[in-house]
Amino acid sequence: MSTATVSTVSAKGAELGYKPFTAGKFRFERDEYFAHITFPTGTHMIPIDAFLRALMRDVAWGFFYGTVNFDQVIGTINHYGTVELFAGLMNEAFVSANRHYVEKFDSKDLRKVFVEILDNWTSEGFDPFASPEETGKPFGAKHGENRKALERERVVAKRMVGLPGDVGYRTDQNGYPLNRQFTDVSTDKPEVHAEPGFEGEVHAFNLFNYVARSDVTWNPSVVSAVKDSLLCPTTEEYILPIFHGNDRVEWFVQASDEIIWDVEDGKTGRPRAKVTMKAGDVAAMPADIRHKGYSPKRSILLVWENNDGTLPQLYSSGKLKPYPVEF
Ligand code: PHB
Ligand code: FE
Repeated sequence: MSTATVSTVSAKGAELGYKPFTAGKFRFERDEYFAHITFPTGTHMIPIDAFLRALMRDVAWGFFYGTVNFDQVIGTINHYGTVELFAGLMNEAFVSANRHYVEKFDSKDLRKVFVEILDNWTSEGFDPFASPEETGKPFGAKHGENRKALERERVVAKRMVGLPGDVGYRTDQNGYPLNRQFTDVSTDKPEVHAEPGFEGEVHAFNLFNYVARSDVTWNPSVVSAVKDSLLCPTTEEYILPIFHGNDRVEWFVQASDEIIWDVEDGKTGRPRAKVTMKAGDVAAMPADIRHKGYSPKRSILLVWENNDGTLPQLYSSGKLKPYPVEF
């Protein structure tokens, strides 16, 4: 197990106001336009906007389900308590040339370094969760900070949005206006007609109105939980900042507009499919792939996750097939 520490050694970005960071033998530096990642078998560059957007998701989602690929080279694999940080491990060319490099950390240690990188490398005005059209730029020398954007709480309903004691609704009054691309979404409330005696057991809310008021993109939030069944809607615009390599099947329901998905083999990155999902389309993403989505216009996607912690082992051992249906 490696220890993740914050380096104080001056480097590339020092004169620009950016600190370098280390996690084990990985070193992270930034300049005006790029994150530079150094590891024992090589170096790699990622455009700083893409890097901060990917890092923001990895931090906010607690390393998510399975693999979070920042790009074709750098990423993390969640082992739920520990996490692997890798360079080239999910890249056929790196692995066949034996140039990949992997280190394991306690999740909380790596998370701490990632949080510090995000904090130091994000200047005033740049919000890694916002669509490019709704945020300032991340480039240039350090100027100010944007903690408000970085410290947003991820919405996780215990049972369902709107129930007593659970996550509340989004309204104009509490700072969540309808997004500029969703002004046509209905704000009606559903009518609930419960049988006498069941009034306290029936609940409904306007999901479209709730999601259309999201101020972030590519950030599924849990709006209802029934045991391990988590319904996670999200609004999407531009590009999913990571290539997600899932360790289980997940279902997508395209609720409005359109997303185009690039689907690749999870381990090698070989192209597997291009999936265009239009409003009303439903897809199951297999457990052995990675995917990245493109949403030309802000759209609503329902991601349906199975939170059962025994699933990764059932898939990786082959006890479960990587897809949920056979036709
Ligand atoms: C996914 O990887 O499945 C994913 C992540 C974020 C989203 C949508 C889908 O906003
Ligand atoms: Fe996914």
